[in-house]
Formats: sequence, structure tokens, C-alpha cells
Amino acid sequence: MAEFSLPKNSKIVKGNKFDYNGKSNNVKHFHIYRWSPDDQQNPRLDTYTLDLDDCGPMVLDALIKIKNEIDTGLTFRRSCREGICGSCSMNIDGTNTLACLKSIEEVQGDVYIYPLPHMSVIKDLVPDLTNAYKQLASVKPWLQAEKDVNEDSERTQTPEEREKLDGLWECVLCFSCSTSCPSYWWNSDEYLGPATLLQAYRWIADSRDEAQKERLNELEDSFKLYRCHTIMNCTKTCPKGLNPAKAIGAIKKLQLEN
Ligand code: SF4
Ligand code: FES
Repeated sequence: MAEFSLPKNSKIVKGNKFDYNGKSNNVKHFHIYRWSPDDQQNPRLDTYTLDLDDCGPMVLDALIKIKNEIDTGLTFRRSCREGICGSCSMNIDGTNTLACLKSIEEVQGDVYIYPLPHMSVIKDLVPDLTNAYKQLASVKPWLQAEKDVNEDSERTQTPEEREKLDGLWECVLCFSCSTSCPSYWWNSDEYLGPATLLQAYRWIADSRDEAQKERLNELEDSFKLYRCHTIMNCTKTCPKGLNPAKAIGAIKKLQLEN
């Protein structure tokens, strides 16, 4: 009989505990995934205890505090700290989200933090996004327009045409949605995933773009697009409140009409 279990070196083991020696009663425990390619050790969960009266309100504030004051080796991505750059995506309290938009108060009990699921890990909370970016590049996420416009004029849109981009342009490419999708977990070599498909639709829906037909043809593929089974995890998890499943549905509809 087939036996399903993690390879020995993938099992997460108990990690280091960094005790809190202060006097505050308002403390919270953070259990954080740690793994480094530099040693032959298994991944582990390290535990840090923070005084919330001396910490910013967001999970990213806690991570920065831990890195600055307790454990400088802790590795994670971040830049803008206000939900714009998309770099601090990780799995917090069981959900993929942006650490800078997730308030510590929202988490009941201890805070568990892991990297985005089903991606190779570069170190600690940093996933390898090489494949995701390659897939993004494959949909040519830029304006394709041959028609000349005068040097001193613009490519105009009506307010109605511009409105069609709402719910699309706000995507910060954090890949929380793609990495929450079971279809993407199993087929990420061929299925493009919700983040990239939402980006593809952002250009398909743009009235200024002249490559709609080519874009739709390019996506007409049983794996690239049609591995979406409308599971809806993408829409449920998106920290920006976007609806990638709707964008994917819109692409499928346009393909039927064309
Ligand atoms: S749709 Fe939402 S979850 Fe997906 S990449 Fe864009 S912002 Fe992130
Ligand atoms: S740090 Fe930029 S989105 Fe969180």
C-alpha cells in the first residue's frame, strides 16, 4: 500500500524559544517558520514573545521588531509596509495575506507564520517566485498598441472604458491567491494561476490595447486557463479584496464569444 508522508528532511521540528523577560501582561507568542539552505537542518518553528504595548499593530511590525531586537537572522521580504508593493505576502494564522495589512489583534491566540504554501523556500519566509514571474511575463503584462498617437496627445478612454479596469489595476502581485489554489499547487508548471490570469484580463479588458484576440488565443489551453475549477480560494484570500475568479470567468466568456 502506498505510504504518504513527508520526506524526513521536510518535517518541521520544534525550534528555538526566545523568552520574554519584561513585566508586561500584554504579550503575544509568535511561532515562525525557519529554514536555511546553508545547513542540513530540517525546517523548524521558532517562538518569540513580544510585548504588544511596545510593538506596532501589524504582523509586519512584529516581524521587524523581532529582526531588529531579538533575532537578526530572521528573513522576510517587505518594502512599502502599506499594502502597495506586494512583497510581504506570507501565510499568517492559516491564511495567505500581506503581513503589513494583517493586524495582530485580529489573530486569536498565538500567531503562526509560514511562507506562502506550495512554493520552494529560499530562506525562512521568502518563497521562490521565479516560476510565478516567468508565467506573468508570458501574458505580456503591458500595453500592446501599434496605432500611432500624436506626440502631444494621449491614448484616451471614456469613463466607462476606464471603469472596466477597476478591481484589476489594484492587484499588487503578492501571489497570495495563486498559492492558495489547489489547482495551482498541483499544476503550477502549466496552469498560470489566478494572479497571472487576473493580470492577463487586466490587459484584455483595456480599451487601449490592440492585442485582445492574440491574448485570448494564447490562453485557449486546457492547462494555462482551464485548470481553474472555480474553487474560489483565490477570491477568499486576496488581501486587496479583488476577485481573480471573476476575471478568469470573464476570460472564458470572451473566448466563447470570439
Ligand atoms: S489578485 Fe489579490 S491575492 Fe492575487 S496577486 Fe493580486 S493582490 Fe495578490
Ligand atoms: S510591505 Fe509592501 S505590501 Fe506589505
